[in-house]
Amino acid sequence: MRVAASAPGKVTLFGEHAVVYGHPAIVAALDKRVYAYAEPRSDDVVKISAKDLRVPGLIVSYVGGELVLETDYGAVLPAIAYVSKAVEVAARYLDVRKGVNVEIRSEMPVGAGLGTSAAVAAATITAFAAAHGYELAGEEVANLAWEVEKGVQGIASPMDSSITALGGYLKISYGSGGAIERVALKVPKEPLLVVGYVERVARTKEMVELVRARLFENPDLYGEILRLIGRLAVEAEKALLRGDLRTLGSLMNVNHALLDALGVSTRRLNELVQVAREAGAYGAKLTGAGGGGCVIALAPENADAVEVAMRLHGSMVFRARLGAEGVRVEAL
Ligand code: MEV
Repeated sequence: MRVAASAPGKVTLFGEHAVVYGHPAIVAALDKRVYAYAEPRSDDVVKISAKDLRVPGLIVSYVGGELVLETDYGAVLPAIAYVSKAVEVAARYLDVRKGVNVEIRSEMPVGAGLGTSAAVAAATITAFAAAHGYELAGEEVANLAWEVEKGVQGIASPMDSSITALGGYLKISYGSGGAIERVALKVPKEPLLVVGYVERVARTKEMVELVRARLFENPDLYGEILRLIGRLAVEAEKALLRGDLRTLGSLMNVNHALLDALGVSTRRLNELVQVAREAGAYGAKLTGAGGGGCVIALAPENADAVEVAMRLHGSMVFRARLGAEGVRVEAL
């Protein structure tokens, strides 16, 4: 039986990078989703087709552990790696040995810092399970999708996998023992965000490694910056829960400055943040790993002006609705 599952992207409101070192982060599910369609096969071949991943018509076959590409375009390989790893992880978890055809579509640009990798993993795992008659709980999907991210990237916090699986707004932290704390936040006033995207010049893995290298060189200084970012997340949680968007905006500005101090921002991201603030945003920051990617601007009053200003600056812009539902099986 052919089945479909979808999982939302996310924006990190506070705490990217610091969350890798056990500090809390606040993250929200986005109303843009990744869809995975799965159909069991009678043999043991896994066939992956990725549409709308900005590379139309790509067909990838995964036969006997070997990846066979039917295109010469290599840029989408990172996204495909998450699909094949997700199939591998789910098959092992469920002890299913049958092959599957998987098709992936995305409503968001892939690799922009919107958590598409984790969404691809969660949607694929859920569709694979449903195609073989299994229903997984949100926390199970969160843990399996995290395994996929760690498998592909080498290092990942449980943030993206948690939010795409569970949806809503979450405060996430995880200790050195590996215990994950996921607190669902009841947010009374949705913060209206304008999101601007500029091209990525570095991957998440490279940005995470850059922070790690700086921390290694000067643990006192960079450790202190990461601790401060964690503290911002704690203050932001309070502001978010009492609907205090002015304070939230100021905290976003401080968070952006600290991310810049870590070295993960770029000139274009800094300019975009500045342009959004000048057009009336309460606050703006980069979101995700940095090195290009997305800026979020909190603009409950001047969203139109902020949107225009960010577009004029040359970024792709959209309004984000937050708090979307987590991974789910879709009716076909
Ligand atoms: C990437 O979206 C966010 C980082 O904190 C990495 C992670 O949490 O795995 C940079």
